[in-house]
Amino acid sequence: PVASTSTKKIPLFKPSPIKHSTPKRKPIPNWVDVSDGEDHIGKRKRLNSHVNVSNGAFKHHPQAHSTPPRKKPRVSGPAEEPLEPIQEHRRQLPIARGKDALVQEIIANEVTVLLGETGSGKTTQVPQYLLDAGFAEQGIIGITQPRKVAAISLARRVSVEQGQPLGTRVGYSVRFDERASAETKIKYMTDGMLTRELLGDSLLSKYSVIVIDEAHERTLRTDLLLANLKRILRLRNKGEDGKGKGKARNPLKVVIMSATLDAEKFSQFFHSAKIIYVKGRQHPVKIYHSAQGQQDYVDAALRTFFQIHIDQPPGDVLIFLPGQEDIESLEKSIELFANQLPQGHPEVMVVPMFAALQASQMPRVFAVPQNNARKCILATNIAETSITIPGVRYVIDTGKGKEKRYLAGNTGGGLDTLMTRDITQSSAMQRAGRAGREGPGFCYRLYTEEAFAAMLPAAEPEIMRCSLAQAMLQLLCLGQDLQELDLMDMPDHDAISSALRTLFLLGALDSHRELTPLGRAMASFPLEPTHARAVIASKELGSTAEVLDVISVLASSSKLFVDATDKRAEIAEARRALIHPAGDHLTLLNTVRAYRAAGVNGEDDDGEAERRKEAKGKGKVGRDARKEWARAHFISERTLREAAAIREQLCVSCERAGIDWRVSCGEREEPVLLSLAHGLAQNAALIAPDGTYKQIMGQTVVKIHPGSSMADKKVPAIIYDELVYTNQIYARGVSSISKSFFATLGAFNRREA
Ligand code: CDP
Ligand code: MG
Repeated sequence: PVASTSTKKIPLFKPSPIKHSTPKRKPIPNWVDVSDGEDHIGKRKRLNSHVNVSNGAFKHHPQAHSTPPRKKPRVSGPAEEPLEPIQEHRRQLPIARGKDALVQEIIANEVTVLLGETGSGKTTQVPQYLLDAGFAEQGIIGITQPRKVAAISLARRVSVEQGQPLGTRVGYSVRFDERASAETKIKYMTDGMLTRELLGDSLLSKYSVIVIDEAHERTLRTDLLLANLKRILRLRNKGEDGKGKGKARNPLKVVIMSATLDAEKFSQFFHSAKIIYVKGRQHPVKIYHSAQGQQDYVDAALRTFFQIHIDQPPGDVLIFLPGQEDIESLEKSIELFANQLPQGHPEVMVVPMFAALQASQMPRVFAVPQNNARKCILATNIAETSITIPGVRYVIDTGKGKEKRYLAGNTGGGLDTLMTRDITQSSAMQRAGRAGREGPGFCYRLYTEEAFAAMLPAAEPEIMRCSLAQAMLQLLCLGQDLQELDLMDMPDHDAISSALRTLFLLGALDSHRELTPLGRAMASFPLEPTHARAVIASKELGSTAEVLDVISVLASSSKLFVDATDKRAEIAEARRALIHPAGDHLTLLNTVRAYRAAGVNGEDDDGEAERRKEAKGKGKVGRDARKEWARAHFISERTLREAAAIREQLCVSCERAGIDWRVSCGEREEPVLLSLAHGLAQNAALIAPDGTYKQIMGQTVVKIHPGSSMADKKVPAIIYDELVYTNQIYARGVSSISKSFFATLGAFNRREA
């Protein structure tokens, strides 16, 4: 049942005559040139105590160089073998000149802090230098990244540099995905994965070196790792008694890498660890601020891009936006306008880059465009320091980013929010810096100079502003107490008690704040405690197959339902059959089932037959049918595919936890909703006489999000996935639930515990 109209390529973005006209007619924003043509990037403090390894020699008074770095003269004597381009590229990286000095320092010190501008080669080269220096003989060289896509992309790159297939010498490990083997010597992983590894091996004894990369981002996981590394160093390098007994049988080295100038704090945390500084190749970047503030930053970015594309010499453009939705909307508008450019004008190659992007789509970011096209990369802050894209000469900075923030409630559950906010000055500098990697560049800030001055200097560490429940549960499994941990920054008291309350309500803690067996079982799932709780509850309720279908979508990194404001009616019509009267969770379940069935001629058999067909090379029909089905229903197939992969991983976790993942409750709905409600008990609200919903555990009045299938409904009680805060507090992912459920909840949790 595929709507024939939707197979035609209709651009989702329609330029409205008022707001969007073709870029040529639109008045161009006024730019005020506030830069003096000087290098505005990294106006750095004097780094007197640092060791500079950029020239391959020690220099104790490095004074940041102000002359543009010279290209290393090519020596091409007859004796020298021509290097492959990729090896030549490695040799040309700024860090290459400091290789020996850097390795010496790492050998000589237990902890080393390495500071270097983005693109100098820290992430890709340091692990390989350590491999060359023999560190892999005593264990794996592990490198952490805050983001999954970055970890995968870097592992891929380094395995190419090593000339080995990915997953052999160089591998990666991220949540729900791993490519590594017994021969893996260099392993890129997310900081979250390494924190999880602590649960099985509290001394991280398989590693000889741990490199904490992008430390300046100060993610919650990075902070937890830093605290644990301090403990591990004491145990592994100094012996149990801290005096050297049993010392150094399996010593550990730690390298902390950062792209910004906050090295002192890391150094102090590790007892004045040595700071090493490598000078990057930074060319001057001319910075422009917009004369007026821009209300619609996506529109302003669109106009600015075409202003550059039409008037400026060649060079790729990197646009920083807060998130996937803005990126996808701008991608469509740019493509639409680019198609209307006069003949003979260079084409535009638009590439999106955000965390939820499938790793297989990443290589496009690095591809060289065909026929002189101008590449335009639309990125979130992932491109700020984690991933360097060659060819960028122009940066457009919207000045916005997404930030996780947890608003701890005073009585009830807190509020996890992901809000678009102004970035920090430090981010703005990093963003501008991306334009000056290969030559002088330009940065267009879509905000005024005053707005820049009003930005916070640097972001608050994540531990100060996010929900601590999952971290706390993991620490408790390690026998650690967050409040007693030696952390770089201590979280708020409110956030701690809120996390304790959540864990208690889920049954992970007993009334003495002791971890329960249920809590331990929850921690064994690579999921938020709330989701893990739902999966565990499904065992007794006999609905594991269904709950896994729902949770795997909730745990994936992007949205399932694609929205387009201009097509509301069409979308509603297409999805009508999927909507379940009990709300969003069962609608989601219907969707997953219908998608699966679309590939196997209406037979829903968990895709088993499909997998068999694919194995025989006949699966293409099924794949195409599913893709078509997803498109016709405005559903993100990428999310569904990701969810399928997550589901497989969760089945493995279930098996380990003694839960049969095949058990299904068939068409019965209640067991599914009840399982979910066990996890979402804190996210529940009852209807009030005035028709609003009021939290059961908390004082907050919540409204059902207009995008929810429950939006206009009045039911006695609801559970929801999350609260989002815009101009008011909305519940998203909402289902109707029987009121009597809550009465039994406490008893149920305690019984299992
Ligand atoms: O970590 P840092 O920012 O210091 O540099 P890096 O990530 O090691 O990048 C060094 C160089 O490798 C840059 O010139 C990147 O453009 C290049 N690179 C690449 O071409 N492809 C990748 N997937 C990753 C890095
Ligand atoms: Mg890096």
